[in-house]
Amino acid sequence: MTATTKTIVGYTYGTSVVAPSPITMEDLAHLKETATFTTEDERWLRRAGAILADQAEEMVDTWRAVIGEHPFLAHYSANPDGTPNARYSAASKPRFAQWIRDTCERPYDQAWLDYQQEIALRHTRAKKNKTDDVDSAPYIPLRYVLAFVPVILLTTKPFLEKGGDSAADVERMYAAWCKTVLLQVALWSRAYCDAANW
Ligand code: HEM
Repeated sequence: MTATTKTIVGYTYGTSVVAPSPITMEDLAHLKETATFTTEDERWLRRAGAILADQAEEMVDTWRAVIGEHPFLAHYSANPDGTPNARYSAASKPRFAQWIRDTCERPYDQAWLDYQQEIALRHTRAKKNKTDDVDSAPYIPLRYVLAFVPVILLTTKPFLEKGGDSAADVERMYAAWCKTVLLQVALWSRAYCDAANW
């Protein structure tokens, strides 16, 4: 059964504990334009969400399998001695799966923008490990977040194809997915740089 957002530990979307993002809605609008992300893409993401919602946990497993094949990546969710930290992986998985649903279903409003910054911070020295109170690597280098984007993109198409839509419509959903993932990683880069260079 899919966890509801209320039961996901550490998922604080839309709550007062999430700090306002330093990124403005105008910055977001410009990034959307840069990525040519339109209301048409939003519409295709809604359809993608209907297809992906129940597959989200399986998608996360697919991504984690790629990380698991590479010890230097697995290191970032492991214990300090390199052994797997099952509690950490189990606790963060429903939040990762919820991100897929949020990406497709939520309006990209101030609450969404604020949570983008929160997700970013949870990859950095500022907040990694804190949500689940674990002892693991202190941050995930930006270079790996960026280089992981192709995995997040390419592995999603087979899941989209399971909805039975035409090949042309799958392409439209896939294009919208590519745009939003890149857009989000661009937003996350803010947590890694000083404002003067962002
Ligand atoms: C485009 C690439 C990536 C995406 C879209 C992504 C997405 C996410 C999301 C949505 C979460 C959950 C945030 C929350 O708590 O609500 C998360 C957490 C996490 N991600 Fe990533 N991630 C990416 C790259 C990576 C890479 C490359 C690694 C490791 C090699 C990684 C390791 C983790 C870990 C360990 C957490 C838990 C962080 C914590 O709260 O302590 N991620 N990620």
